[in-house]
Amino acid sequence: MTKAILEARNLGKSFGGVRAVDRFEIELKKSELVGLIGPNGAGKSTVFNLLSGAIKPTDGTIHLFGKDITGKKMVDFAQAGIARTFQNIRLLEEQTVFENVLAATHKSANRNFFANLFHTKTWRREEMVLQERVELLLETFSLLDKRNELANNLSYGDQRRVEIVRALATDPEVLFLDEPAAGMNPAEGKELVQLIEQVQKDYNITVVLIEHDMDVVMDLCERILVLDYGKLIFSGTPQEVMASDAVRSAYLGDDLINA
Ligand SMILES: Nc1ncnc2c1ncn2[C@@H]1O[C@H](COP(=O)(O)OP(=O)(O)O)[C@@H](O)[C@H]1O
Ligand SMILES: [Mg+2]
Repeated sequence: MTKAILEARNLGKSFGGVRAVDRFEIELKKSELVGLIGPNGAGKSTVFNLLSGAIKPTDGTIHLFGKDITGKKMVDFAQAGIARTFQNIRLLEEQTVFENVLAATHKSANRNFFANLFHTKTWRREEMVLQERVELLLETFSLLDKRNELANNLSYGDQRRVEIVRALATDPEVLFLDEPAAGMNPAEGKELVQLIEQVQKDYNITVVLIEHDMDVVMDLCERILVLDYGKLIFSGTPQEVMASDAVRSAYLGDDLINA
């Protein structure tokens, strides 16, 4: 059996009286593609916030590569190989596409402060490697011709893709994507999803995806976790999820797309 790279046990988060996440459990293995679905307000983004260290859990533990990282800072999670995008895009709006992505690589690079300050030979060599990596990623996501545009001036779909490139630029082991196709037209969304699949394979990383379009989730994910009122109500293959009464009643029998 493959060892889990990320494991959360009995994870809980309360905001005042609201129990946003309750007794959540997850075990992620190397290079799997997992879907996280559930109605609005179910706690999906909060789960991502917890698993990426953006917020601290009220209860439970998170282990990365067998090491307890519960309660550590987001930067520690990032350095340990966790990357994520946000439901609401967060880019450096007054900086170019290239600058946005390069800044993300610097966050992950293990830089010596003085080397950075004096721009030594090693620094310059590292910088070139990073810049090449950024260019390759921009090319993969068809953003190379927009490298000098300000993030502010990009279309919504392009901004979403820059966010993903930023996350990938940190060279992550696990990538959390919070509704990456939100606001895109169906064609853009479909293209993006294919790209995610390709990147997941090429870079051999683990991807967890929050996505409302069930066709997309069914197509893409090997297994799906279903959240409702902060609780994990089901976990299984796409087929098992579709056949589950618990999942159906969580969505009140409506089709999952409009949930
Ligand atoms: N920072 C916060 N402060 C207070 N309540 C929050 C906060 N973040 C999320 N919540 C609440 O937690 C619940 C789950 O929210 P969220 O994780 O955003 O759900 P989802 O992403 O599934 O739509 C909601 O009731 C939401 O209002
Ligand atoms: Mg959300």
